[in-house]
Amino acid sequence: MQLKKGQVVELDIHALAFGGAGIGKYEGLTVFVEKTMPGDRVKASFFKIKKHYAHADLVEIIKESPDRIKPKCPYSGICGGCQLQFMPYEKQLEFKKQHVIDSFERIGKIYDPPVEDVIPCEDVFYYRNKLEFSFGYDADMNFTLGYHVPGRRFDIMDIKECHLMSPFASEIANAVRDFMKRKKWPPFKYSCGEGFLKALFLREGKNTGEFMVNLATSDDTPEDFDESMEEFVSMLLALPGSPGITSIYRSKIISKRGQPRRTEETLLHGKPVLTETLKTKNGDNLVFDIPPQAFFQVNTVQAEVLYNEILKIVEDKSPDLVFDLFCGTGSIAMFIAKSVERVTGVELNKDSVKIASANATKNGIFNMDFFQGDVNKMISTLKERPSLVVVDPPRAGLAKKFIKQLSEFDSPVIVYVSCNPSTLARDCEELKEYGYAVKKIQPVDMFPHTFHIENVCLLERDNLL
Ligand SMILES: C[S@@+](CC[C@H](N)C(=O)[O-])C[C@H]1O[C@@H](n2cnc3c(N)ncnc32)[C@H](O)[C@@H]1O
Repeated sequence: MQLKKGQVVELDIHALAFGGAGIGKYEGLTVFVEKTMPGDRVKASFFKIKKHYAHADLVEIIKESPDRIKPKCPYSGICGGCQLQFMPYEKQLEFKKQHVIDSFERIGKIYDPPVEDVIPCEDVFYYRNKLEFSFGYDADMNFTLGYHVPGRRFDIMDIKECHLMSPFASEIANAVRDFMKRKKWPPFKYSCGEGFLKALFLREGKNTGEFMVNLATSDDTPEDFDESMEEFVSMLLALPGSPGITSIYRSKIISKRGQPRRTEETLLHGKPVLTETLKTKNGDNLVFDIPPQAFFQVNTVQAEVLYNEILKIVEDKSPDLVFDLFCGTGSIAMFIAKSVERVTGVELNKDSVKIASANATKNGIFNMDFFQGDVNKMISTLKERPSLVVVDPPRAGLAKKFIKQLSEFDSPVIVYVSCNPSTLARDCEELKEYGYAVKKIQPVDMFPHTFHIENVCLLERDNLL
């Protein structure tokens, strides 16, 4: 039968795809339907039809899965942020573990992979230490501050309460929205590159109670902006939770055609960094100063869990020299430093490298060196032989050439930390070519209610090639 776009059909959802869409079958065709879960019977309308699969919009849930629960958040299913909030947390964890297994089998061709149960996050709400709200317009051109509407590139919906970060974060966002509406400064329009207000970045030190507020704008500054900044700072500092606000920044994002994007940061109030602490399983309390643009794991509690999993491996393998590649602000290096002779970290972001060294000194750790640069280029300049290498790349994973060079270190152990099971599985298949076998995969849930899952993967080379 010829299927048509817009055609509405009924189908049962029997599985969940990575990304959160439910999967059903219609006339032998695999159909992906967002906002559904296994056990649902739904009506859905096709909007994309390919030879072997199709995508359809949910029209109606005819019969709800017995596993469905009522989401806590009124924006669930609308804002696109927490795709799995209608699913009990235990089911989310089962789904994530299965997804890791499937990725290894399907992409990595590593069958029956040694995937442990996911380490759950104790608090499934308010766990984030960082949020980004965007300024914009809704479909009726009202001024908004919130999140992008899924499927509509330029529409931003107001978010008055987000349960992912402490309630004070929503209070700040609501106060900033009211302030900006009064000022009548225009949101930046990405469609034409005009306007002023871009985003509001919030960071929170979960263990220190500190907050960093960062207003991102274009360089098309309104005339009354500078004189209004004192008022802006006073407004924030008058909020009931204001003692927590320890830094207020304005970041001017300058993007000119044909030139690389640059950001000019101006500290309007307080300290230049947000301070956070993390505890190792051995009881050491590590202090981290985090500048506005540096990477820091967004779930503080689970960052400790994640890094302690790495520390356990390090203690078990007792390496002398460790390479921490893609080291960010050096958090992994700092966790393991006491258990090894030396750590060498490499990181692209200049601010992160600077702060990694400063943080090391602050924590009285002196057996680490951090180098700034692209690891893909720097790797050939690292002449020493590490007995353990940690890699923690961005979602895209490792380049093929990098993997080859990594294998040339002849390190018996690689700890691959990854936020993307697909690229992790792909890279493990490649590492297999160089004699590395996957010994253990420990998923850690850093992002409840989303389909994201972090993994600590232990690879060992039994017989050096
Ligand atoms: C997933 S983060 C890990 C950071 C750190 N390990 C941590 O847990 O905080 C990835 C890091 O890789 C850095 N990065 C991205 N591409 C890079 C490259 N080509 N060379 C070096 N570092 C890179 C990013 O700036 C980021 O800090």
